[in-house]
Amino acid sequence: MNTFSVPKYSVCSFKVIVQVALCLIITTVAPAQTTKGGKKISSELFGLFFEDINYSADGGLYAELVQNRSFEYSPTDKAGWNPFSYWDYVTTGFSYGTIGVETTTPVHPNNPHYIVLNIEHVGTGGVGIKNYGFDGIVVRSGEKYNLSLFARQLSKEPVSLTVSLQNRRGVVLAESSISTSSADWKKYSASLISKENNDSAALVILATSRGKLGLDVISLFPEKTFRNRPNGMRNDLARMLAEMKPKFIRFPGGCLVHGDGLGNMYRWKNTIGPIEERKEQKNIWNYHQTAGLGYFEFFQFCEDIGAKPLPVLPAAVSCQNSGGTWRIGGTGQKAIPMEEMSEYIREVLDLIEWANGPATSGWGAKRAAAGHPAPFNLEYVGIGNEDKMTPEFEERFKMIYAAVKAKHPEITVIGTVGPFAEGDDYNKGWKLANELKLPVVDEHYYSQPKWFMANQYRYDAYKRNTTGVYLGEYASWGNKLRNAITEAAYMTSLERNGDVVRMASYAPMLAKKGFTQWTTDLIFFDNVKICPTVNFFVQKMFMTNQGDIYFNNVISKDAKDSTLAASCVIDSKSGDLILKMVNAGNVDKPMKINLSNFKNILVDAEKSVLTGSADGENTFENPGKIVPGLSTFKVSSKFEYSVPAMSLTVIRIKNRSN
Ligand code: AHR
Repeated sequence: MNTFSVPKYSVCSFKVIVQVALCLIITTVAPAQTTKGGKKISSELFGLFFEDINYSADGGLYAELVQNRSFEYSPTDKAGWNPFSYWDYVTTGFSYGTIGVETTTPVHPNNPHYIVLNIEHVGTGGVGIKNYGFDGIVVRSGEKYNLSLFARQLSKEPVSLTVSLQNRRGVVLAESSISTSSADWKKYSASLISKENNDSAALVILATSRGKLGLDVISLFPEKTFRNRPNGMRNDLARMLAEMKPKFIRFPGGCLVHGDGLGNMYRWKNTIGPIEERKEQKNIWNYHQTAGLGYFEFFQFCEDIGAKPLPVLPAAVSCQNSGGTWRIGGTGQKAIPMEEMSEYIREVLDLIEWANGPATSGWGAKRAAAGHPAPFNLEYVGIGNEDKMTPEFEERFKMIYAAVKAKHPEITVIGTVGPFAEGDDYNKGWKLANELKLPVVDEHYYSQPKWFMANQYRYDAYKRNTTGVYLGEYASWGNKLRNAITEAAYMTSLERNGDVVRMASYAPMLAKKGFTQWTTDLIFFDNVKICPTVNFFVQKMFMTNQGDIYFNNVISKDAKDSTLAASCVIDSKSGDLILKMVNAGNVDKPMKINLSNFKNILVDAEKSVLTGSADGENTFENPGKIVPGLSTFKVSSKFEYSVPAMSLTVIRIKNRSN
């Protein structure tokens, strides 16, 4: 319980003066709601945005080690790709045979391609296939890797298979064997424990007896995934996200949601159930999605780390840039035909039943069958992503919204207002939101640091007590400290306006080194290492220090200095008082802190400071170059703090009664 005595709401800082001025200029602005002198703000302001861009899912967060495990790669994904991409045909020790890709009798119709291996002569080695994963399979000495594959014996006799992990010179690091026993598709498993560390191993499957067999869905997972979940996530990356303590996770994108044409939309039902039944497809970012990291895994991850799930579904239209032109604001938007809309709306409603319905309900039963009988407690559903505000979009959005509202008034629907901070789609999107009285809309903008500094009062001018904002994607262009500190300054304005801005998430989140389509990202990684950007540390400092009551009269600073920003919140669960002070200038600047209205505060506070040179950034060579410095800090009822040049400081003050 918060036992601070909170001050009366008073107008003493520059920010508030601006707020008041804006209130006078824009007569529609309602006064901010206050709670005992503080203002109630969103308790789930900062969260994460996940999109399968930059190899964030396959080859990234999804721990699968085999690339193109189901032989579903195709030239549609990327020029030059085919069902056998990333596999090698192997004949060792004077063996010979043939290999082909077939589609006549697949494991599942959603997964049409498989290979057929005809082993004519095994020689001294065998006939088979090899996969180097996503640029090499990383294995660690003594650790267990779980292999599974589907095989269909097409010859009379069983076929013996040797499965191994090998280094680049062909030295075996782990080995096991499988013998086929069925003329129908059957799943086989084996465990491989590596003898050595290796960052570029291959999975090799060799048939060591004559015969013919089909093979498909060849999968290899480390036993140690995040929380040891089967079909799980890469432990180090997932842990890093968990440690950010996001209040929510938006998934699965981004542009990936509405897709490159109607056939490429992200359809959630294709991403649940056994992996061999999931429908793979082209990734809009010019690669491939296995859907192995699908809706079940996203929801499970949210639950595991205490974040609310925020799925975004297409608004029954494809990306306006569909069709390969990728001209911003293009007109390639395609709409689901009206006669198919009732089926599409069903799909949206089914998601809510799948997530929240009892295990006895039709879709709830599928969730239960996947191992989660309890509901996932879904609260939010996003409809649409940056869509062009065409009559086709509006008509379909209204239909979907009306259906969700009628059947599930408990769900908060989040609309969309285009790809930019202003302009035609933004205006039309907001007009529609006002007309429908939408609870929340999703704003997106990427811009230069100076835009963020100049727009720190954007939300002070927004109407109160009406449609709220989810700032679903934002970033200043760059991963230098200057960018991160600018974002920190902007984030203090999101806290100040936390009665309007309900949620915010930096984008994009993950990026694999050498496989990026979007240059400014939050966390870079390769198969072994992680390089958190300085922007990541800003996000983490805000996420781990969120509050739900905002105070405008605790920190004062030079009102004329636009390089300074600050915020003060209380987290009423812990009772902690949290100060955030930002200096985006080149010299240290003082701020005055007045805690005299807060009783019972402990003198020894925790302080974290992120600072360095404006052009500094973290690299794979030096990932820890700029990280927050932690220390204890003595606070008093009134004190001055010199905010270092180019820095973010967070001071967390505990309450004596806790
Ligand atoms: O975050 C990267 C992309 O930026 C998203 O896919 C899209 O929504 C936005 O344009």
